Amino acid sequence: ANIILLGPPGAGKGTQAKRLVEERGMVQLSTGDMLREAKSSGSEMGRRVAEVMARGELVTDEIVIGLIREKLTTVASGGVIFDGFPRTLKQADALGDLLAELDLRLDAVIEMQVDDAALVDRISGRYSCGNCGAVYHDRITPTKVDGVCDACGSTNLMRRADDNEDALRTRLMEYYKKTSPLIGYYHARGELRAVDGLAAMDAVAAAISEVLDSSR
Ligand code: AP5
Ligand code: ZN
Repeated sequence: ANIILLGPPGAGKGTQAKRLVEERGMVQLSTGDMLREAKSSGSEMGRRVAEVMARGELVTDEIVIGLIREKLTTVASGGVIFDGFPRTLKQADALGDLLAELDLRLDAVIEMQVDDAALVDRISGRYSCGNCGAVYHDRITPTKVDGVCDACGSTNLMRRADDNEDALRTRLMEYYKKTSPLIGYYHARGELRAVDGLAAMDAVAAAISEVLDSSR
């Protein structure tokens, strides 16, 4: 199945996408991760993108659609999770065209519903492993040993440049202005399925599994 995980920053898109990769062998396409990779490549484009991201604003549609196009043509089988894409109506239209071109279908758009207070709490406590990408939270899911990644043993734990109060405020505004219209867009197409993103991680995973199993 090919699905979109749609939701505001901190809704748990990345967390659930990683579980689906482990449990179902699906492929995670996270535009946020791709953009952070472009940044660490040290290119001029990467440097400009990093500035936009650090402020919490959206990167241009052209760049993001280009990244997805490039990746999607190489992973066209096995079930794709679009994590953090599309984020604008223009991106949604481009994805529709791209899927049609590759003869792929979209099975569900999963809207992860959370409230702003929870988002602030989740994002301000988040850190991740710079080596394997595992995600943790200071209070909810800390590493078992302080400063050491459970998954790979690395001590390279880090916080994102945009996980601060100012950038988060901008990210939320961008979400409500530019991304939330996609809820109506996919609802009108009969593809939207909502899950309660405030539930515990296992419960959210179970709700997503249910959607996946019923859309086959
Ligand atoms: P991106 O990397 O996509 O970030 P985001 O949308 O802000 O989402 P996050 O990664 O912050 O949150 P998440 O929903 O994945 O939550 P997570 O699972 O980590 O984008 C970053 C930037 O890149 C954008 O601002 C923009 O500049 C640019 N960009 C990316 N895509 C773009 C696009 N398509 N167009 C234009 N620009 C684009 O969870 C968060 C925390 O909560 C973690 O600590 C986790 O442990 C915890 N948690 C998760 N689930 C639960 C639960 N059920 N209960 C309790 N805690 C939980
Ligand atoms: Zn790790």
